Amino acid sequence: MRQSLIMGNWKMNGSREEGRQLAKALAEGLGDVVQQVVVCVPFIYLADIRDVLASSLIAVGAQNVADQAAGAYTGEISAAMLADTGVKYALVGHSERRSYYGDTNQSVANRFIQAQKQNIVPVLCIGETLEEREQGRTFQVVDEQLDAVIDAAGIEAFAHAVIAYEPVWAIGTGKTATDEQAQEVHHYIRQRIAGRSQAIADKLQILYGGSVKADNAKGLFAQPDIDGGLVGGASLDAKGFLQICHSV
Ligand code: PGA
Repeated sequence: MRQSLIMGNWKMNGSREEGRQLAKALAEGLGDVVQQVVVCVPFIYLADIRDVLASSLIAVGAQNVADQAAGAYTGEISAAMLADTGVKYALVGHSERRSYYGDTNQSVANRFIQAQKQNIVPVLCIGETLEEREQGRTFQVVDEQLDAVIDAAGIEAFAHAVIAYEPVWAIGTGKTATDEQAQEVHHYIRQRIAGRSQAIADKLQILYGGSVKADNAKGLFAQPDIDGGLVGGASLDAKGFLQICHSV
Protein backbone atom coordinates (compact mmCIF):
# COMPACT_ATOMS: atom_id res chain seq x y z
CA MET A 1 0.00 0.00 0.00
CA ARG A 2 1.51 3.29 -1.10
CA GLN A 3 0.99 6.44 0.92
CA SER A 4 -0.67 9.24 -1.00
CA LEU A 5 1.20 12.47 -1.62
CA ILE A 6 -0.33 15.82 -2.50
CA MET A 7 2.02 18.56 -3.63
CA GLY A 8 1.19 22.18 -4.26
CA ASN A 9 3.30 24.09 -6.78
CA TRP A 10 2.92 27.81 -6.20
CA LYS A 11 5.12 28.62 -9.21
CA MET A 12 6.09 32.32 -9.35
CA ASN A 13 3.06 33.69 -7.50
CA GLY A 14 2.27 35.71 -4.42
CA SER A 15 4.08 37.99 -2.02
CA ARG A 16 5.86 36.94 1.17
CA GLU A 17 2.81 37.90 3.21
CA GLU A 18 0.38 36.11 0.89
CA GLY A 19 2.54 33.00 1.07
CA ARG A 20 2.61 33.12 4.85
CA GLN A 21 -1.16 33.53 5.04
CA LEU A 22 -1.74 30.67 2.63
CA ALA A 23 0.62 28.37 4.54
CA LYS A 24 -1.03 29.31 7.83
CA ALA A 25 -4.48 28.54 6.45
CA LEU A 26 -3.26 25.16 5.20
CA ALA A 27 -1.63 24.28 8.51
CA GLU A 28 -4.80 25.19 10.40
CA GLY A 29 -7.20 23.53 8.00
CA LEU A 30 -5.46 20.26 7.26
CA GLY A 31 -6.48 18.35 10.37
CA ASP A 32 -5.58 14.69 10.72
CA VAL A 33 -4.62 13.27 7.37
CA VAL A 34 -2.92 10.08 6.35
CA GLN A 35 -1.37 11.43 3.18
CA GLN A 36 1.80 13.49 2.91
CA VAL A 37 1.33 17.14 1.94
CA VAL A 38 4.09 19.33 0.51
CA VAL A 39 4.10 22.87 -0.85
CA CYS A 40 6.72 23.86 -3.42
CA VAL A 41 7.29 27.56 -2.92
CA PRO A 42 9.58 30.15 -4.52
CA PHE A 43 13.18 29.80 -3.31
CA ILE A 44 13.19 33.19 -1.63
CA TYR A 45 10.27 32.28 0.62
CA LEU A 46 11.36 28.76 1.56
CA ALA A 47 12.65 29.73 5.00
CA ASP A 48 9.56 31.83 5.79
CA ILE A 49 7.13 29.13 4.80
CA ARG A 50 9.19 26.45 6.54
CA ASP A 51 8.81 28.45 9.76
CA VAL A 52 5.07 28.93 9.33
CA LEU A 53 4.66 25.18 8.75
CA ALA A 54 7.12 24.11 11.46
CA SER A 55 4.53 22.59 13.78
CA SER A 56 2.36 21.18 11.00
CA LEU A 57 2.57 17.98 8.98
CA ILE A 58 3.18 19.93 5.77
CA ALA A 59 6.71 19.90 4.34
CA VAL A 60 8.31 22.47 2.06
CA GLY A 61 9.68 21.68 -1.37
CA ALA A 62 11.65 23.61 -3.98
CA GLN A 63 10.53 24.08 -7.58
CA ASN A 64 13.97 23.35 -8.99
CA VAL A 65 17.52 22.56 -7.92
CA ALA A 66 20.90 23.21 -9.54
CA ASP A 67 22.46 20.51 -11.69
CA GLN A 68 25.88 21.16 -10.12
CA ALA A 69 26.97 20.72 -6.50
CA ALA A 70 28.65 24.12 -5.92
CA GLY A 71 30.81 26.73 -7.53
CA ALA A 72 30.68 29.46 -10.15
CA TYR A 73 27.03 29.10 -11.22
CA THR A 74 25.60 32.58 -10.75
CA GLY A 75 21.93 32.63 -9.87
CA GLU A 76 21.63 28.93 -9.08
CA ILE A 77 20.56 27.29 -5.80
CA SER A 78 22.32 24.06 -4.83
CA ALA A 79 20.81 20.98 -3.26
CA ALA A 80 23.06 21.51 -0.22
CA MET A 81 21.62 25.01 0.24
CA LEU A 82 18.11 23.62 0.01
CA ALA A 83 18.85 20.86 2.52
CA ASP A 84 20.36 23.48 4.79
CA THR A 85 17.06 25.38 4.62
CA GLY A 86 14.98 22.36 5.60
CA VAL A 87 13.73 21.44 2.15
CA LYS A 88 12.54 17.84 1.81
CA TYR A 89 11.44 17.65 -1.84
CA ALA A 90 12.48 19.30 -5.10
CA LEU A 91 10.73 19.28 -8.45
CA VAL A 92 13.07 18.43 -11.32
CA GLY A 93 12.24 18.74 -15.00
CA HIS A 94 8.94 20.56 -14.68
CA SER A 95 7.68 21.18 -18.21
CA GLU A 96 7.94 24.95 -17.73
CA ARG A 97 11.64 24.51 -16.93
CA ARG A 98 12.10 22.23 -19.92
CA SER A 99 10.32 24.51 -22.38
CA TYR A 100 11.22 28.04 -21.16
CA TYR A 101 14.64 27.52 -19.55
CA GLY A 102 16.19 24.81 -21.65
CA ASP A 103 16.31 21.98 -19.12
CA THR A 104 17.30 18.86 -21.03
CA ASN A 105 16.86 15.22 -20.08
CA GLN A 106 20.56 15.23 -19.17
CA SER A 107 20.41 18.32 -16.95
CA VAL A 108 17.24 16.98 -15.33
CA ALA A 109 19.08 13.74 -14.53
CA ASN A 110 21.89 15.77 -12.95
CA ARG A 111 19.42 17.77 -10.85
CA PHE A 112 17.83 14.53 -9.70
CA ILE A 113 21.22 13.16 -8.64
CA GLN A 114 22.25 16.37 -6.87
CA ALA A 115 19.00 16.40 -4.86
CA GLN A 116 19.41 12.81 -3.73
CA LYS A 117 22.99 13.42 -2.63
CA GLN A 118 21.53 15.82 -0.07
CA ASN A 119 18.68 13.52 0.97
CA ILE A 120 16.13 15.64 -0.85
CA VAL A 121 13.47 13.60 -2.62
CA PRO A 122 13.46 14.53 -6.31
CA VAL A 123 10.05 14.71 -7.97
CA LEU A 124 10.77 13.89 -11.60
CA CYS A 125 8.22 15.59 -13.84
CA ILE A 126 7.56 13.97 -17.21
CA GLY A 127 4.85 14.25 -19.83
CA GLU A 128 4.05 14.81 -23.47
CA THR A 129 2.90 17.90 -25.34
CA LEU A 130 -0.39 17.98 -27.23
CA GLU A 131 1.46 17.58 -30.52
CA GLU A 132 3.32 14.55 -29.25
CA ARG A 133 0.09 12.97 -28.00
CA GLU A 134 -1.65 13.59 -31.31
CA GLN A 135 1.28 11.98 -33.13
CA GLY A 136 0.85 8.91 -30.92
CA ARG A 137 4.22 9.51 -29.27
CA THR A 138 3.13 9.78 -25.62
CA PHE A 139 4.82 6.57 -24.47
CA GLN A 140 7.96 7.27 -26.47
CA VAL A 141 8.36 10.71 -24.86
CA VAL A 142 7.75 9.34 -21.40
CA ASP A 143 10.31 6.58 -22.05
CA GLU A 144 12.96 9.06 -23.15
CA GLN A 145 12.40 11.34 -20.16
CA LEU A 146 12.40 8.43 -17.74
CA ASP A 147 15.27 6.45 -19.23
CA ALA A 148 17.63 9.45 -19.19
CA VAL A 149 17.30 9.53 -15.41
CA ILE A 150 17.32 5.77 -14.87
CA ASP A 151 20.49 5.47 -16.96
CA ALA A 152 22.25 8.27 -15.07
CA ALA A 153 21.06 7.58 -11.52
CA GLY A 154 20.33 3.83 -11.58
CA ILE A 155 17.01 2.17 -10.88
CA GLU A 156 17.73 1.94 -7.13
CA ALA A 157 17.56 5.73 -6.99
CA PHE A 158 13.82 5.43 -7.59
CA ALA A 159 13.40 3.92 -4.14
CA HIS A 160 13.83 7.50 -2.90
CA ALA A 161 12.12 9.49 -5.61
CA VAL A 162 8.68 10.46 -6.84
CA ILE A 163 7.47 10.69 -10.43
CA ALA A 164 4.90 13.26 -11.54
CA TYR A 165 3.15 12.56 -14.81
CA GLU A 166 2.08 15.93 -16.16
CA PRO A 167 0.74 16.01 -19.70
CA VAL A 168 1.87 19.43 -20.90
CA TRP A 169 -1.47 20.06 -22.62
CA ALA A 170 -3.25 19.77 -19.28
CA ILE A 171 -1.05 22.18 -17.30
CA GLY A 172 -2.77 25.45 -16.51
CA THR A 173 -5.22 24.93 -19.35
CA GLY A 174 -8.22 23.69 -17.41
CA LYS A 175 -8.08 20.60 -19.65
CA THR A 176 -7.52 17.64 -17.35
CA ALA A 177 -6.64 14.21 -18.62
CA THR A 178 -9.59 11.90 -18.05
CA ASP A 179 -9.21 9.41 -15.23
CA GLU A 180 -8.66 6.69 -17.85
CA GLN A 181 -6.09 8.67 -19.88
CA ALA A 182 -4.08 9.43 -16.77
CA GLN A 183 -4.33 5.89 -15.40
CA GLU A 184 -3.18 4.47 -18.73
CA VAL A 185 0.08 6.44 -18.66
CA HIS A 186 0.62 5.92 -14.92
CA HIS A 187 0.26 2.19 -15.42
CA TYR A 188 2.68 2.33 -18.33
CA ILE A 189 5.26 4.21 -16.23
CA ARG A 190 4.96 1.73 -13.36
CA GLN A 191 5.38 -1.19 -15.76
CA ARG A 192 8.47 0.41 -17.25
CA ILE A 193 10.00 0.73 -13.77
CA ALA A 194 8.86 -2.81 -12.95
CA GLY A 195 10.85 -4.01 -15.96
CA ARG A 196 13.95 -3.06 -13.97
CA SER A 197 12.68 -3.68 -10.44
CA GLN A 198 9.23 -4.90 -9.42
CA ALA A 199 9.87 -4.04 -5.76
CA ILE A 200 10.71 -0.42 -6.56
CA ALA A 201 7.77 -0.10 -8.95
CA ASP A 202 5.36 -1.37 -6.29
CA LYS A 203 6.48 1.29 -3.81
CA LEU A 204 6.95 4.21 -6.21
CA GLN A 205 4.60 7.17 -5.76
CA ILE A 206 3.42 8.42 -9.17
CA LEU A 207 1.54 11.72 -9.02
CA TYR A 208 -0.74 13.18 -11.65
CA GLY A 209 -0.47 16.89 -12.49
CA GLY A 210 -2.37 19.11 -14.91
CA SER A 211 -5.44 21.13 -13.93
CA VAL A 212 -6.18 19.08 -10.81
CA LYS A 213 -9.10 20.76 -9.04
CA ALA A 214 -11.32 19.95 -6.09
CA ASP A 215 -13.98 18.59 -8.44
CA ASN A 216 -11.80 16.18 -10.45
CA ALA A 217 -9.31 15.10 -7.77
CA LYS A 218 -11.39 12.26 -6.33
CA GLY A 219 -11.78 10.43 -9.63
CA LEU A 220 -8.10 10.76 -10.50
CA PHE A 221 -6.87 9.71 -7.06
CA ALA A 222 -9.14 6.67 -7.11
CA GLN A 223 -7.17 5.18 -10.02
CA PRO A 224 -4.95 2.26 -8.98
CA ASP A 225 -1.69 3.76 -10.26
CA ILE A 226 -2.32 7.39 -9.27
CA ASP A 227 -0.86 8.06 -5.85
CA GLY A 228 -1.68 11.73 -5.50
CA GLY A 229 -1.31 14.99 -7.32
CA LEU A 230 0.98 17.86 -8.23
CA VAL A 231 -1.32 20.85 -8.09
CA GLY A 232 -0.48 24.24 -9.61
CA GLY A 233 -3.19 26.87 -9.91
CA ALA A 234 -5.56 25.24 -7.43
CA SER A 235 -2.86 25.18 -4.74
CA LEU A 236 -2.98 28.98 -4.46
CA ASP A 237 -6.39 28.84 -2.81
CA ALA A 238 -6.33 27.33 0.67
CA LYS A 239 -9.90 26.07 0.63
CA GLY A 240 -9.60 24.41 -2.77
CA PHE A 241 -6.22 22.87 -2.01
CA LEU A 242 -7.45 21.50 1.32
CA GLN A 243 -10.41 19.94 -0.48
CA ILE A 244 -7.98 18.28 -2.87
CA CYS A 245 -5.91 17.03 0.08
CA HIS A 246 -9.05 15.53 1.57
CA SER A 247 -10.05 13.86 -1.73
CA VAL A 248 -7.56 11.04 -1.23
P1 PGA B 1 -1.89 23.28 -12.94
O1 PGA B 1 -0.30 23.09 -12.87
O2 PGA B 1 -2.48 22.51 -11.80
O3 PGA B 1 -2.10 24.75 -12.80
O4 PGA B 1 -2.32 22.74 -14.26
C1 PGA B 1 0.26 21.86 -12.55
C2 PGA B 1 1.76 21.96 -12.55
O5 PGA B 1 2.32 22.66 -13.40
O6 PGA B 1 2.44 21.32 -11.72
